[in-house]
Amino acid sequence: MERTLVLVKPDGVQRGMVGEIISRLERRGIKLVALKMMLVDQALAHRHYGEHEGKPFFQGLVDFITSSPLVAMIWEADDVVEIVRGTMGQTNPKNAAPGTIRGDLGVNIGRNLVHGSDSPESAQREVALFFKEGEILDYNRNNDPWIT
Ligand code: TYD
Ligand code: MG
Repeated sequence: MERTLVLVKPDGVQRGMVGEIISRLERRGIKLVALKMMLVDQALAHRHYGEHEGKPFFQGLVDFITSSPLVAMIWEADDVVEIVRGTMGQTNPKNAAPGTIRGDLGVNIGRNLVHGSDSPESAQREVALFFKEGEILDYNRNNDPWIT
């Protein structure tokens, strides 16, 4: 079963969009298996966004993601990485389709509300950065046969 890391970024928490974003993912039918609120420090921000080091927006991105608490989650489903990326919408909310989180709730690329891993390989790396194995729960949901 595939897992992905989702963050409700500091702008999402500050704007009171945590419930809205979780609700959209829940309604999609994917399964929540870990969740916590945390303040990301510089070291974790650098590791999480390491692929962007050296790009012009990197420092702003690190400053933003460490500026205020975020909500970190792991969601599980077959092909969950692709499913979550679709529900999030394009990186720049200006280009994100209506009906997506970013397309409905945002206007600014630097304040795009949500992070989702971009591949199963990134997801494995990012899940391990944010969560210990013991924080990820294994449980049965009664509605799964009606979704999958
Ligand atoms: P990226 O990994 O390309 O996007 P995504 O979050 O969709 O996987 O970039 C990481 C974050 O960096 C992105 O969510 C917002 C920010 N960013 C900028 O501020 N300016 C930019 O030009 C880009 C490409 C990203
Ligand atoms: Mg990315």
